[in-house]
Amino acid sequence: MINTLRNYMELSSTVADIVEAQIKEHPLSKLGLSTGSTPLGMYKELVSRELDWSTVITFNLDVYLMYVNHPESYQSYMRKNLFDRTNIYPNHYHFPFRPFSSFEDKIKGSKGIDLCILGIGTNGHIAFNEPGSSFLSRTRVVNLEEQTIIDNARFFDSVDDVPTQAITMGLATIMESKKIVLMAKGLKKKSILNQAMFGMITEDIPASILQEHKNVEIYYCD
Ligand code: GLP
Repeated sequence: MINTLRNYMELSSTVADIVEAQIKEHPLSKLGLSTGSTPLGMYKELVSRELDWSTVITFNLDVYLMYVNHPESYQSYMRKNLFDRTNIYPNHYHFPFRPFSSFEDKIKGSKGIDLCILGIGTNGHIAFNEPGSSFLSRTRVVNLEEQTIIDNARFFDSVDDVPTQAITMGLATIMESKKIVLMAKGLKKKSILNQAMFGMITEDIPASILQEHKNVEIYYCD
């Protein structure tokens, strides 16, 4: 089921409520986190709530293959919008790293992700698992689709500055999360979201694999 909310503020606070409850009920939570424009309001809301992040561990879903201190790297994004504004320990937050098997082991060693917050791309990607990604995929380097590069060009000076490759958790990695919350905003996401949630489960629409997850919640606003 897709929960449709009235506006972006409600979308942000609803998902922030879920994260807050997770952290308060389970202070040792492991969170899977995503970037992009959609979760910005949720991060802002979480920062304003001044929660105790001192025992929380996080795993970001994906990073561009680029200079990590570039202002548009996902590492910079996370520091600016969440990590530097909470009391999370720097050695408690993780971005995909090499060797990828060690990154996967790190997630498994921490007993897995309890709550994973996802967005969705206009082509149905989750994290950077582009259409055609195997449902069995794990953390790896991927080439970004032209549509994804165009969609993300708004964050850069020009489309030529958008990285063409990324490291992403795989679909199998994401599906091992105990609970998944997907947030989507805007009419341009509506049709792909409906196809993903109610259409055929196919690797052509990576997000459609979520239909097979037992504990997934979808929140959408126009
Ligand atoms: C990006 C990210 C995804 C994100 C998606 C949607 O490419 N890799 O993790 O969920 O695209 O982004 P936005 O919220 O900006 O539409």
